Order: sequence, then structure tokens, then C-alpha cells
Amino acid sequence: MMPSEKNMTAKVPQARAEILEISPYVQGKSAISGQTAPIKLSSNESSFGPSPKAIEAYQSQATALHRYPDGSQSPLRQAIADIYNLDADKIICGNGSDEILDLIYRTYLSSGDDIILSANHFVMCALYAKIQGANIVLAGENNYVTSVDDLLSKLTPETRMVTLANPNNPTGTYLNAEQIRRIHSGLPSDVLFVIDGAYAEYVTCDDYDNACGLVDEFDNVVVTRTFSKIYGLSALRAGWAYCPTAVVDILQRIRSPFNVNSPAMAAAIAAVNDVNYIDRVRLHTADWQQRIQKELGALGIRVIPSVANFYLLNFNECEGKSALDAAGFLETEGIIPRPVSTSDGDDVLRITVGLDAENEAVIKALTKYMS
Ligand SMILES: Cc1ncc(COP(=O)(O)O)c(C=O)c1O
Repeated sequence: MMPSEKNMTAKVPQARAEILEISPYVQGKSAISGQTAPIKLSSNESSFGPSPKAIEAYQSQATALHRYPDGSQSPLRQAIADIYNLDADKIICGNGSDEILDLIYRTYLSSGDDIILSANHFVMCALYAKIQGANIVLAGENNYVTSVDDLLSKLTPETRMVTLANPNNPTGTYLNAEQIRRIHSGLPSDVLFVIDGAYAEYVTCDDYDNACGLVDEFDNVVVTRTFSKIYGLSALRAGWAYCPTAVVDILQRIRSPFNVNSPAMAAAIAAVNDVNYIDRVRLHTADWQQRIQKELGALGIRVIPSVANFYLLNFNECEGKSALDAAGFLETEGIIPRPVSTSDGDDVLRITVGLDAENEAVIKALTKYMS
């Protein structure tokens, strides 16, 4: 038989129908051709990098690379628990918080279930929900802030989960403690409420709550967190979740035994303990958010108020200008922003808050672009 004949008759393995609907994740651009050291502001990373103590701890693991990691994750869970005043037994760590979201969705979502996300949600949540064959139901937003009333109106007997990033990505907006509690009060007790706090450490508003208290109070709330953002450890892939006992027990059964590697755990322990370092990054980011709001707003660009380490620029009302055009211009100036799309088709661009000189460069370049 000729190879071509064989191909015509042979059956091939088939992926599940749900998977064929999924497009691969596209990560933020990290290079500009012809530019040797671009300013990368496309992935909400920390331009500060990790605490020097975290780098030292990471390097200290170089002599033990032939050993499997501590599968219990106990030292890291305890370090997190001590700093955030939580119960270490209710913490699970993952290969980034992405992995934990995936574990949660695999565990609690089945084909045909409904999951409610905000209209502009973190894209990986939709991807993990699609893998499960769940129906994604979108809650509306007012000025890019999730509408609590609209979210609660979307509940059906099929709803199994609600996930909100708080603060949200790509909007940078947040729901306050009272709003989060109101959502929870409206949920049946068998609907899991997942609150993704990837940017929680950046928030300086008094009315924000990281929702770990809700986890202690109720059996249907999970909070996910990461070392990829303010802690500056994106490359190492370390995240964690605070869960009710029954949930953590189930997730521990299905995670792979060595899902977080030793250098990542060592660095994360040192990072979480260096509270002063994180305080400085938080203050720097909050100060710059105010300045960016004022200076880019004065150029006629609508800056969506953000409590995270990035901001969304809306060019809808900038005559003769566009987000894509602005992105191209920024790239010619050596700056990489992240063009994103929104549920309403707004013309927006997302930019990470960087170091002083990086933010100055963005303001200078956009001033030039808008003039
Ligand atoms: C809202 C949100 N959640 C979770 C993540 C995943 O973070 P990681 O897997 O690096 O912990 C991100 C990353 O950008 C994010 O923006």
C-alpha cells in the first residue's frame, strides 16, 4: 500500500469535540525586531524583579537539582500561612495559579454546567471552562466593573461555579468587600465561588478585602494567588490557593506530586517573607497609577481606574487615533504594550506599570503620539 492510500483509510485518534473549539493562548509579545532592550510592559510582570533574598534562595538550590522537591509543600504553605495569617492545612500550591484554576475546573465543572465569568475576564478561565465543556455565562459590567446585580441575575439551576478575578485582568478594576459578600450571599451553597487574587497585593483601597476570611467562613469559596506578579517570580511558576478543608482535600488528590519545583518553593518562601520589599513595589505602583491617570488623561485618552499593576487605555474618543496605532507607535519607541479586546469591542490597550524610567518613556511616547 502506498503511504497516501494508508492515510485515506486509517482512523486517527480524535480529540474531544470541546477541545477542537479552543485556540492556543497567545502570550504578550516580548521582543521588537531591531531593538535590543525593549521595555516589556505586555504581561503584567514586575519590572522590579524578585527580592534579592528570593534570588539568593533560588540559587541555593543549584546543588540539589538531582533531588525531587518536597511534595508536601509544607515549608512554603507554612510561610504563606504565617505572613497572611491563614491555616497552612487549607493551602495548596501549584505550578502558577493557572494550574490551580485548571485543577479546580477539572474537579468541579462538568460538560453542560454553567460557569459565570465577568464580561471581561481572565482568558485562561474561559479556556479551562471550555476544556470541561461547560457553558460560559457572562455577567455584564458598568464602566468595566462587574455588575453584582447582573451577575446574580445570570444564576440558573445549572450554575456550578462563579469565578472573578479581583482585581480583574484586563480591566484593573475591583469589587469591594461588601460587593463580594453580596455576590456570595446570592449563591446557592453548592455553587463554588472562585476569587482570583493574582493582583491582590497591589491594592491599597481600604474597602478591598482579599476574601480569605470568606474561605474560613464558608465551604464554597476558594481564593487563588500567585508569586508571578508583585513577587516577581513569573518564570518559576508558583501559585497557591486558600480553600475550605473539603476542597483542599480533593485538590491534593489530583495534583501531580511534584507540581512546584524546589528552586521555585525556596524563592517563594524568601519572597513572601521579604515584606518590606513588597511594600515598596506596592507603593511605587499605586503612586504611578495616580500619575498615569492624570497625565495620560490630560492627553484625552480615557484611563480606566486600576488598582493593579497595569492600566487599560481606551481610545474610543480619540479622533484619528486607535489603540492598535498607538501600540505600533509605542513599539517604534521601544515599548511593548498589550493590545487586548473587550466584550463591547472598545478600542483599548493594556500597559503594565514599570520602573520610573519605563513609565516616563510611556508618557513621553504617548504625548508624542497624541500631539
Ligand atoms: C487574573 C490572573 N489570574 C491568574 C494569572 C495566572 O498567573 P500565574 O499562573 O502566573 O500564577 C494571571 C496572569 O496573568 C492573571 O492575570
